[in-house]
Amino acid sequence: MIELRDVHKRLGGRQILDGLTLTVPEGMNFVLMGPSGTGKSVTLRHVIGILKPDQGSVRVDGQEVPAMDRAQLMALRKRMGYLFQNGALINWLTVAENVALPLREHGRLPRAETDDRVHEVLRLVGMDHAAHQYPPSISGGMRLRTGLARALVTKPEYVLYDEPNAGLDPIISQQIHELIVEVRDKVGVTGLVVTHSRACATFCGDRIGILEQGRLAVEGTVAELAHSDHPLARAFLGGDAD
Ligand SMILES: Nc1ncnc2c1ncn2[C@@H]1O[C@H](COP(=O)(O)OP(=O)(O)O)[C@@H](O)[C@H]1O
Ligand SMILES: [Mg+2]
Repeated sequence: MIELRDVHKRLGGRQILDGLTLTVPEGMNFVLMGPSGTGKSVTLRHVIGILKPDQGSVRVDGQEVPAMDRAQLMALRKRMGYLFQNGALINWLTVAENVALPLREHGRLPRAETDDRVHEVLRLVGMDHAAHQYPPSISGGMRLRTGLARALVTKPEYVLYDEPNAGLDPIISQQIHELIVEVRDKVGVTGLVVTHSRACATFCGDRIGILEQGRLAVEGTVAELAHSDHPLARAFLGGDAD
């Protein structure tokens, strides 16, 4: 379980998080929505310990993340995959080499085991056929699948998804949404999904929270929010949202 309690954070002279409380229950996808620049990516960076709150608590399985030392943070990041916007791949490494990177960071597995694990996750995301291609020569959807494989390669219990369908067309986006659901249901991953997309939120989400002025303005199940009269819920999940 991921738990943020009353998190405050100032950045660049602005109060970005202002009492944010959010719980991601085990085995679920929690979708975090909100206008651009409200602190969604900043929230994810608190969960993996890149940023520390000025005040408040960030816990993963009851352990306080800001109090972790370097070794504990490394161990946490092994249990927590991070899918960056657009996949964030290294252009001069092949798809398979990009996916293998976290395994190399987390100690030395025998070569054969690394290869097996890399091909296992590439198969899971439907990218096994492109293992030896380079990121500039593959499509945006394929780059994102590769980023997801890299996020999954250490067999994490959690995955943080930052705008997983940004820049993708609706058909490719839907394939990514299906993968996110598969990762929850077949791999048993607990997800925190940042997105602007109604399709992503309603397809992948179990619970949705909408961030405004540093805290959740509204929070509930997908069904509750889809029928909510709250202006933000209507803006993000109502008839005109995409
Ligand atoms: N390291 C930083 N230093 C200063 N300001 C930052 C830093 N990281 C993020 N911000 C600011 O915090 C706000 C929230 O950023 P972010 O979480 O990336 O927004 P979003 O909700 O679009 O993901 C933005 O105004 C951004 O400019
Ligand atoms: Mg962001």
